[in-house]
Amino acid sequence: MGAIAVIGLHWGDEGKGRIVDFLAQKCNGVVRYNGGPNAGHTLVVNNEVFKLHLIPSGILYTGKINIIGNGVIIDPSTLIEEIDGLKNRNFLNGQLFISDRAPVLFPYHKLIDELEESIRGSFSLGTTKKGVGPGYTDEVNRSGLRIVDLISDSFEEKLRRVWNLKVKLSPALDGRLDISDVIKAYKEYSIILKPYITDTVGLLHRLISEDTSLLFEGAQGFLLDVNFGTYPYVSSSESSISGVFSGSGINSKQLEKVYGVAKSYMTRVGSGPFPTELKDNFGEYLREKGKEYGTTTGRPRRCGWLDCIATKFSCQINGVDGIYLTKLDVLEGLQEVNVCIGYEYEGERLDYFPASLEVLSECKPIYEKFPGWRMEGRNLPKNAISFISFIEEFLGTKVLGVSVGPQRESFIDLC
Ligand code: GDP
Ligand code: IMO
Ligand code: MG
Repeated sequence: MGAIAVIGLHWGDEGKGRIVDFLAQKCNGVVRYNGGPNAGHTLVVNNEVFKLHLIPSGILYTGKINIIGNGVIIDPSTLIEEIDGLKNRNFLNGQLFISDRAPVLFPYHKLIDELEESIRGSFSLGTTKKGVGPGYTDEVNRSGLRIVDLISDSFEEKLRRVWNLKVKLSPALDGRLDISDVIKAYKEYSIILKPYITDTVGLLHRLISEDTSLLFEGAQGFLLDVNFGTYPYVSSSESSISGVFSGSGINSKQLEKVYGVAKSYMTRVGSGPFPTELKDNFGEYLREKGKEYGTTTGRPRRCGWLDCIATKFSCQINGVDGIYLTKLDVLEGLQEVNVCIGYEYEGERLDYFPASLEVLSECKPIYEKFPGWRMEGRNLPKNAISFISFIEEFLGTKVLGVSVGPQRESFIDLC
């Protein structure tokens, strides 16, 4: 295996972490390239549960290289907490490197996120309130600080300059935090993080030239991508394939394969249109059976049937070479399983994922129905195979493996 990207094809929480953990067995390292503490990737190893937000999902293996790329927005306190948590459980097994170019989150980003969400009122985006949107906004607006600034002698001066700009432009922030306290805390964080900080771009190019196999682990899902997702109900980073390049510094010639991760049904946390959402008791059934509660915020996830129109849109733009289908066990035992294969909008049939949220919100799913199944040990029953084959044909890509439980071993390789 060379360089492989793993991308969530829905609105996040597809099970990327567990697929990366599975694929990492055969790789030398894992690279996170987008998102920040808003992400939550759950790994279950020997019945122990690990929830990672910033650290790549290869960290539980001994000797693997784990890189936090320049596209990841870093909240130093969350990262230190995560490092300490893993160390305390004797699970910081791999090597960890942090990009010197990665943007840094400050407490005012969280404050702005909270204020903006409360001002938006009934139009709130349902963010994780981790400050990720305001943090990336500052980066694009050239008012952000990067890891390289955090460890530099001019850190205090740079932060005071930014803070001055912030309070002048946003009187709502004035008096809400003492910037001297922030400076003091961040200087301490910088000392703790310094040993992990490096030029990850140079490191990645060296590793690739030495034929090191690397997985590029996406955070969020493609439908939350700031360019192609259900804007403005999206996150603020590139969760599409382009994020691999902008968020790590490798080039497109170095990427060998792109694998998508799709859930066997669909979930979404936060606001925004979701054509196949089930607002009835059956949605509640999926939530309880699939334990669909946010890894980062604990919020209940909205649940619905698999939307092949949305998933196909994701497969096309990301150019996937195959997909992993997760949580097939959650659909087990049903009389009938539905898959959305088109939308009905104002009496017309749509076969594409519309840009207009007004249109998408009014789309009624057109379903293909499949008879249910019961698992027979590790063998996939005939009806489950028909369901998978239909998805492969509709999406025009292979299902490389399915997961049938959260544990490492609950995985059926179809390659
Ligand atoms: P990620 O953000 O894409 O990494 O996904 P999350 O970790 O946020 O959410 C996926 C959840 O589903 C986690 O709690 C996983 O432990 C769990 N999970 C993953 N694969 C399976 C599966 O095949 N079956 C079941 N029942 N749970 C799974
Ligand atoms: P992983 O990596 C699911 C959602 C939030 C909200 C929107 C914007 O675990 O798949 P943000 O805090 O990013 O500004 O919130 O994006 N969101 C996620 N939903 N999984 C995630 O990450 C998410 N990261 C952000 O719920 O709707
Ligand atoms: Mg998650």
